[in-house]
Amino acid sequence: MKVFVVGANGKIGHHLVRLLADDNQHVVKAMVRKDEQLREMQKLGAEAAIVNLEGGVDQIAEGARGCDAIVFTAGSGGHTGADKTLLVDLDGAVKTIEAAEKSGIKRFIMISALQAHRRENWNEAIKPYYVAKHYADKMLEQSSLTYTIIRPGGLVDKTGTGKITIAEDIIEGAVPREDVAKTIIACLTEGNTYYRAFDLVSGDIPIAEALKMF
Ligand SMILES: NC(=O)c1ccc[n+]([C@@H]2O[C@H](COP(=O)([O-])OP(=O)(O)OC[C@H]3O[C@@H](n4cnc5c(N)ncnc54)[C@H](OP(=O)(O)O)[C@@H]3O)[C@@H](O)[C@H]2O)c1
Repeated sequence: MKVFVVGANGKIGHHLVRLLADDNQHVVKAMVRKDEQLREMQKLGAEAAIVNLEGGVDQIAEGARGCDAIVFTAGSGGHTGADKTLLVDLDGAVKTIEAAEKSGIKRFIMISALQAHRRENWNEAIKPYYVAKHYADKMLEQSSLTYTIIRPGGLVDKTGTGKITIAEDIIEGAVPREDVAKTIIACLTEGNTYYRAFDLVSGDIPIAEALKMF
């Protein structure tokens, strides 16, 4: 598959681009915001396009042209306010879904957040973030796309173990970003994850097996 990575310059995004570039089943196109990021992605072996999620749906669609799948792993981050949470984490995600539909790109993987589907479990301190994730996920579920929604727990920068736990509900836990990236790649062609959503934390089951058993 040719995979368009939205948020390619991010921490999960970097793992994902590197792993996809080394994977002979897939080809990767990185969506970034700046020239220097574009050059870095090209050095990793990716094709790249400069697009900002605060721009129009057509710009995202143009960036993704020729791809077979889109992964949304962008985020406004903790250093910005609720305005960027709305503009990037919610509207940026929804515009990417619209761009996929407009371009006929059916496969879509969303990186959401642990328990984004359960209001009662949202962290009070970052409630607007959960609201954004919740409604972006709902829009994806209501779209015509072949989606998978991955809701990871707290992200850490440790080396991945390649082993995870996934379930409809996991209340707490953490997971290395590298294992999230590996899970995304395994989901791309795993039919058992199509039209499904799950929480993801570290565990003791190899990724491919966990996705088949779920
Ligand atoms: N932190 C956690 O514990 C946690 C837990 C669960 C889920 N998540 C989710 O996991 C995902 C990835 O996390 P991460 O740690 O890899 O994130 P990250 O390192 O902060 O990367 C986010 C990326 O989004 C890009 N971005 C921000 N605004 C943009 C815009 N307007 N247009 C285009 N790109 C834009 C950033 O671009 P620049 O590089 O140019 O700034 C950055 O590369 C996010 O969706 C996050 O919400 C995080």
